[in-house]
Amino acid sequence: MKKVLLAALAVFALNAMAADNGATLFKQCAGCHGANAQKKALGRSEVINTWKSGKIESALNGYKAGTFGGAMKGIMKGQASRLNEKQIKILAKYIPTLKKK
Ligand code: HEC
Repeated sequence: MKKVLLAALAVFALNAMAADNGATLFKQCAGCHGANAQKKALGRSEVINTWKSGKIESALNGYKAGTFGGAMKGIMKGQASRLNEKQIKILAKYIPTLKKK
C-alpha cells in the first residue's frame, strides 16, 4: 500500500514538473510565435527571442493586467491570463534560450 502511494506521488511530481517546464509551456505559444520564438506572431508582434527575460516577464504581466500591449493585445491577454506567476517567470527565462537554435 505504501509503495503504491509513493509511486502515485512520484507520477504526480513528474507531471507537475513537466507542466512547468519551459519547453512544454512554450508549446502553447509556438503556433503564433514560431517554434523558436523567431517569428512575428500573426505578422504583428516583435520577434521575442531577442528580448531579455525581464522584458518578457513585464510584457506578460502587463498583458495580464491590461497595462501593456499594442493593437492586438486582446489576443495576448487571453494567453497571459492562463499563466500563473511562476509559469511567466519560467517562460521569460526560457524564451531567450531559443535564439541560437
Ligand atoms: C494566437 C496567437 C498567439 C499566441 C498563441 C501567443 N501569442 Fe504572444 N503575441 C501575439 C500577438 C498578435 C502579439 C502582439 C500583440 C500586441 O499588439 O500587443 C503578441 C505579443 C507577445 C509579446 C510582446 C511582443 C510585442 O511585440 O510587444 C510577448 C512577450 C508574447 N507575445 C509572448 C507570448 C507567450 C509567452 C505565449 C505563450 C504563453 C504567446 N505569446 C502566445 C500572438 C500570440
